[in-house]
Amino acid sequence: MHDFRYVGKKLYCEDVAVESLAKKFGTPLYVYSQRTLTRHFQELDRAMSPVEHLICFAMKSNSNQSVLRTLANLGGGFDIVSGGELQRVIAAGGDARKCVFAGVGKTDAEIEFALRRGVYCFNAESEPELHRINRVAARLKKIAPVAVRVNPNVDAHTHAKITTGTYENKFGIAIEGIEAIYARAAKLKNLRLRGLQMHIGSQLTTVSPFEQAVTKVLPLVQKLKAKHGLEFFSIGGGLGIIYQPALASGDPAWWQTSAAKKILTPHSYAARLVPLLKPLGMKILMEPGRFISGNSGILVTRVEYVKRTGKKNFVIVDAAMNDLIRPAFYDAYHEIVPLTKKGGAVISSDVVGPICESGDYFCKDRPLPKVGEGDHLALLSAGAYGFVMASVYNTRSPAAEVLVNGRRSALVRKRLPVKEIWAAESVAPWLK
Ligand code: LLP
Repeated sequence: MHDFRYVGKKLYCEDVAVESLAKKFGTPLYVYSQRTLTRHFQELDRAMSPVEHLICFAMKSNSNQSVLRTLANLGGGFDIVSGGELQRVIAAGGDARKCVFAGVGKTDAEIEFALRRGVYCFNAESEPELHRINRVAARLKKIAPVAVRVNPNVDAHTHAKITTGTYENKFGIAIEGIEAIYARAAKLKNLRLRGLQMHIGSQLTTVSPFEQAVTKVLPLVQKLKAKHGLEFFSIGGGLGIIYQPALASGDPAWWQTSAAKKILTPHSYAARLVPLLKPLGMKILMEPGRFISGNSGILVTRVEYVKRTGKKNFVIVDAAMNDLIRPAFYDAYHEIVPLTKKGGAVISSDVVGPICESGDYFCKDRPLPKVGEGDHLALLSAGAYGFVMASVYNTRSPAAEVLVNGRRSALVRKRLPVKEIWAAESVAPWLK
């Protein structure tokens, strides 16, 4: 459920016509709904309320300061993967003590910074990392809270580039070796074994892989809790969202099908996982990113040209793969809709950007309403892994970002002057 819908012929975000934002702030433009962000956080929070828990928003999915502040104000913590992300949380008014620090390559400087700021836990991904955290903590005369990321070897049945919980991946430590590692880590004087963590992949649209992974890891958590007094079990993120319109808004009867009944919602997720987790008597951490931010954002773009070749109808827009790389990178589907519905003909189209790569497309051969120069389109479900994965390829200035709250809207990231792109560069002295 999100807050982008048509009122008459115009697409609205909450109570604001998106076209008015495109006119005011220009395009390409990311538009986020604060109400959607809030609802997604609160729905999951409520569904999990039978167990003590903390939602640590995976800020890698969307790290705009206003998005972070929205979630911090709701009491959320953050799943961070770099010192830079921790600095962003602090700048946005988030609480470092509610941050879990993940990632396979934490540097000494990042560990030191996180220790000084008092993060809730380091999720370690290897034994050398545990030794390094211990060493840095000893130097600072601190005790570092740690959890080890267990790789349960469960196939999440998602895109190969975003699956993480099998032995093919670089993440975590094989489940068979975990007890021995905790026993060795218990001897490291500057570590406090605080929890166990797992994350099996991203964009999982059914509960079964989560259920399978939790069921597989539970006996291990129980043992570790008894032996080392662990306080929390983190079941990671990965809750998927609906990108396909046929599922999201199309046929109401679809929701009665057996496929629909398997779809992941906060309710179905909690209904299957809470009974497994409650008897543990531990704090449960979650690290959802996309579930909270994905359907909270859209990317608005302007049609520059329509180019008809013998075979194709190319709609050339002013957004490109540098603004939203998911279609090029993962063959990801994003629904594309006009900001103003005109009715009339539907035509099979490729929506493409201006970048000099054939991979620079948002859809291929998709039936879309006929559009012309100056019309605006929105790419839906672009709130997660959208702006954050943007680049300045082709010396294109990053898109601007706007947050909507009811009737209000605010520019939450201005469009950078193109000169800023090379501001940190210089001409070598011998070339002058
Ligand atoms: N926790 C850990 C340890 C992670 O690695 C991730 C995502 C998450 C939580 C949050 O996953 P989420 O709830 O958002 O699925 N760029 C890709 C997704 C990469 C996900 C990386 N890790 C995409 O656009 O689909």
